[in-house]
Amino acid sequence: MVFMELMNTQIIELTKDRTWENSLLKAGQIIQQGGLVAFPTETVYGLGGDALNPESAKRIYAAKGRPSDNPLIVHIHHLDNLTWIARDIPEAAWQLAKAFWPGPLTMVLPRGDRVPLETTGGLDTVAVRMPSDPVALAFIQQAGGFVAAPSANLSGRPSPTSFRYVLEDMEGKIEMILAGEDSKIGLESTIIDLTSIPYLVLRPGSITIDQLQRIVGRVEMDPSLLQEENYAPPKAPGMRYRHYAPRGELTIIEGERKAVGEWIKRETLLAAKTGKKTGIICTIEGLPFYRLAKDEGYIADSVKCLGEYGQAGEIASNLYRALRELDEEGIEVIYAEVLSYGGKEEAVMNRLLKAAGNRLIKI
Ligand code: TXA
Ligand code: MG
Repeated sequence: MVFMELMNTQIIELTKDRTWENSLLKAGQIIQQGGLVAFPTETVYGLGGDALNPESAKRIYAAKGRPSDNPLIVHIHHLDNLTWIARDIPEAAWQLAKAFWPGPLTMVLPRGDRVPLETTGGLDTVAVRMPSDPVALAFIQQAGGFVAAPSANLSGRPSPTSFRYVLEDMEGKIEMILAGEDSKIGLESTIIDLTSIPYLVLRPGSITIDQLQRIVGRVEMDPSLLQEENYAPPKAPGMRYRHYAPRGELTIIEGERKAVGEWIKRETLLAAKTGKKTGIICTIEGLPFYRLAKDEGYIADSVKCLGEYGQAGEIASNLYRALRELDEEGIEVIYAEVLSYGGKEEAVMNRLLKAAGNRLIKI
């Protein structure tokens, strides 16, 4: 355990701060002096440090409690900066950048010499993303153009989609939080590895494999993501670790709608009888199964309805908040419906399965 002295974390509420340009200037200076600043992006909040400074990378790992072999994504604000940090950039990268940047796509490319191995977890590749959130872009510019940033959560917790969750996990450990709006997308970026042939999606996100294929032709899912159990190690080191896990035991139930509703209802009532605090994660379509008679509330202590079945965008933007709230409420047993059709290739179910430690019952 590394001893870490607690510091005063400054919170800049951008919606209330009329001098936010000055605040961004200050945030940029903190980064350039080796400090850490959390900032909003359209996917999730990031925990930023200078990507070209090995000491900053070490501080990021310490603040998150994250293993230092798990590489960081380098965030840029201008396409010209890509050649500064990556080498042998294939034509496909420029095509993808044109189609999806700024936005929720991360590309893995051969690492340029300027990027220290501490930032890339010892790898000779570098992951790069240009986010679309205007605050993020302005901040990266002020910070010198290269901000290494993992999601701003403690390792093992859901990524933060609101600055309140950043504060919960990072207060006292970083110099500043740029508190903007809630993240619109709510799940981390799609990662595509352009250093292998065929190109591989290492982490599904809101940009789908179909969209990528339309721009660059053949793209496949990292095979380790599609297995029932993760036997082969995934290529993105971060996908190896247990992630996003709520403290309660989460199980996903798959099957015909009515059967699933009835199963969850029965098992929830059984768990409640044994004195457990119960939770349900469901869609609007499933909700009626969990209502008590005569509008008296629900059969579980907490019911999180994330949106309409298959509306992946809406469900994605609610998922991590729901997982954090279930923890706050002390829920011990959680049953979740299948929320969307895409299975493991799709971001929502990929993250839900990870949160459940792949515990899925087919009925
Ligand atoms: O949306 C996002 O990508 C957010 C925001 C803040 O930009 N960032 C994010 O970072 O999710 P993080 O560190 O939580 O996840 C980065 C993932 C990890 O699974 C890591 O292993 C993988 O990217 N990764 C980073 N560099 C890599 C590389 N060179 N090769 C393969 N995987 C890499
Ligand atoms: Mg993360």
